Amino acid sequence: MPTFTLKINNKSHTVEADMDTPLLWVLRDQIDLVGTKYGCGIGQCGACNIHVNGNVMRSCLLQVSQAEGMDITTIEGLSENGDHPVQKAWKEVDVPQCGYCQAGQIMTASAFLNNNPSPSELEIRNAMNGNICRCAAYNSIEEAVKVASKKIS
Ligand code: FES
Ligand code: FES
Repeated sequence: MPTFTLKINNKSHTVEADMDTPLLWVLRDQIDLVGTKYGCGIGQCGACNIHVNGNVMRSCLLQVSQAEGMDITTIEGLSENGDHPVQKAWKEVDVPQCGYCQAGQIMTASAFLNNNPSPSELEIRNAMNGNICRCAAYNSIEEAVKVASKKIS
C-alpha cells in the first residue's frame, strides 16, 4: 500500500492508504482526529470541512494522494485552547444543539472571516450556505459569525 506524508495541524504524519482514500477517513481512522465528522460523504453537508492551505475544503472529497504537500488544519488545530475568535463567539452565542455539524461550521466560518473579516449579512449567509445543520441552528450560526467578525475586525 502506498505511503503518504501529510502536514496536519503543524505536525507531520506518515500514513499508509490506497491512493483514493478520502482524507476524512485518514484523519479519523488513522490519526484519531475525530473532530472532523462524516455526514454525507458526497460533498453535500460540510460536516467534514477542514482548511487546506487556508481555504475551506470537504475532506470527504479530497483523496489522500492529493493532500501531500498541503498545509492541513482540522478543528483540533484551529487554536491551542479553543480560543479562536470563532470558537469564542460560538460559546458566547451558545450555538451547538446536538453539535454534530459544528466543527464543519466553525471551519467554514473561520476560513471565511480570514478572507473577509467584516462581512455583510448576505455574505455570511452565502458563505455558510453549504453547511447543513440538521438541528436548524442557522440563526445562531449567523449570529455567531457576526460576533466573531466583531472580535476579528
Ligand atoms: Fe463531506 Fe458531507 S461528509 S460534505
Ligand atoms: Fe445538530 Fe447542527 S447542531 S446538526
